[in-house]
Amino acid sequence: MNVQNTTELSKATKVSSEWWRGGVIYQIYPRSFQDSNGDGIGDLKGITQRLDYIASLGVDAIWISPFFKSPMKDFGYDVSDYRDVDPMFGTLADFQELLDKAHAKGLKVMIDLVLSHTSDQHPWFSESRASRDNPKSDWFVWADPKPDGTPPNNWLSIFGGSAWQWDSRRLQYYLHNFLSSQPDLNFHCREVQDALLDMARFWLELGVDGFRLDTINFYFHDRELRDNPALSIEQRNASIAPAVNPYNHQNHLYSKSQPENIAFLERLRALTNEYEGRACLGEIGDAQRGLEIMGEYTTGDKRMHMCYAFEFLEKRVLTASYAKQVFDQLSAKARDAWPCWAFSNHDVARHASRWDLSEAAARQYAVLMMCLRGSACLYQGEELGLHEADVPFEKLQDPYGIEFWPEYKGRDGCRTPMVWVSQDEQSGFSAGEPWLPVSAAQAEQAVDRLEPDPQSMLNHYRRAIALRHAHPALATGEQAQMEQTGTVLTFLRENETEQVFCAFNLGSEAAEISLPQGHWRAVGQDLGAVEGEGQITLDAAQFCLMVRGKG
Ligand code: BGC
Ligand code: MG
Repeated sequence: MNVQNTTELSKATKVSSEWWRGGVIYQIYPRSFQDSNGDGIGDLKGITQRLDYIASLGVDAIWISPFFKSPMKDFGYDVSDYRDVDPMFGTLADFQELLDKAHAKGLKVMIDLVLSHTSDQHPWFSESRASRDNPKSDWFVWADPKPDGTPPNNWLSIFGGSAWQWDSRRLQYYLHNFLSSQPDLNFHCREVQDALLDMARFWLELGVDGFRLDTINFYFHDRELRDNPALSIEQRNASIAPAVNPYNHQNHLYSKSQPENIAFLERLRALTNEYEGRACLGEIGDAQRGLEIMGEYTTGDKRMHMCYAFEFLEKRVLTASYAKQVFDQLSAKARDAWPCWAFSNHDVARHASRWDLSEAAARQYAVLMMCLRGSACLYQGEELGLHEADVPFEKLQDPYGIEFWPEYKGRDGCRTPMVWVSQDEQSGFSAGEPWLPVSAAQAEQAVDRLEPDPQSMLNHYRRAIALRHAHPALATGEQAQMEQTGTVLTFLRENETEQVFCAFNLGSEAAEISLPQGHWRAVGQDLGAVEGEGQITLDAAQFCLMVRGKG
């Protein structure tokens, strides 16, 4: 059987409702993607205008960061009405139009549900804080002060300081894992769960294909409000927060990742299962137990379809040994766990800068992402090879950056407007003054510059995504024999019909490897993959891909 037939055969066997398994998801940060009305803020109509571009990348789905009604203290991750679009982004009708047009182009649409907390402007919170005995008094996490007036325990907010905020009406503290304007919902209260599931149903009815679920392991807290233990200094280096943040000093045993969460996730999955082909992608933020939780949350078919973890969003470079460590740990926790990887997003410095990548290395990582077992999220502008933008203090918007400046500059450097047209004053993003400045350095790599050049990063990404689609073993197959030899990572991906051998030199020096024997065919030359037989040398950032049919 020739390889062409093999490919077609396994494509046909992929169940279409499982589009998410091994799917490539393009993350859109709506404020910064495309402004359609000149107010300097990206919007839903802007996304609709750019659907042809997105479809041309070959991705399976888009994930749109929150566009719901919000006072925008955390730029949409503080929701004051889950069932409506913030006027700054448009209307529900605009969303419906976006959904229909995306579907017509074969793109799935995932929305970002922020269930763990609301905005303090949400009517639920206004009601809850009004008294200790109103019907929603238990909807948020309220607790009495210690006798000396200090907060009930030592829990910390990721954005700095105590996780407790005093409320002078109830004369109690309320919990917030993020900003004090993002009060935590109390998931121990069944009515809270019901209200959230009801809201999720509203969007499923509207036709969304799935949810990216914000901070999914933060839903529940320890009912007894026990203090978190301290971490030793050596344990503090693995972290989801910048080094200067005292959040890293604790092992967050009690403030998140509680066992009760599993039952809620199963309720959410059961609801999603009532609709055909929908998927849940949970975001796990836990520096100590991230992979373990990913195993717990994605094992079997009753919980999340996939989880998104911070392992490759860290400052630490994705080396061969780190990759092996991550996949070994993950398969030790749950062989069937299904990860979704990202190198960049709206919360971390763009990986080209974070890992200080050469152009060749950035190209190699794009191919690696398409070869690793798991689904993949690409963050807008990643396909252009963008580096982190430099945003001066006077222009900062992110409260997290303002708090920890200058040791940590916050998340604005990865949130600057998408660059479409290099010669336009605002790079084709807006006719007005953008909410964050367009980066002049990024504008050099605007879409209109890279589009016509077949060798550009943009066209490289398109080919890398196409490679995954041409070889379903890369999307949905098993991953076997992962080995690290010096700086080289090798592994096999395989399904019933084909095997793909992958070798990546993730180091900065040349390295020797031996290629497997037998009838293999080299692929990926259009991506820069090298060919050879037996013992070969991979230069820094070089890789080799070989395919053979099975049976
Ligand atoms: C989101 C952040 C947000 C936080 C609180 C996350 O992990 O990705 O952007 O600030 O949750 O909602
Ligand atoms: Mg606008």
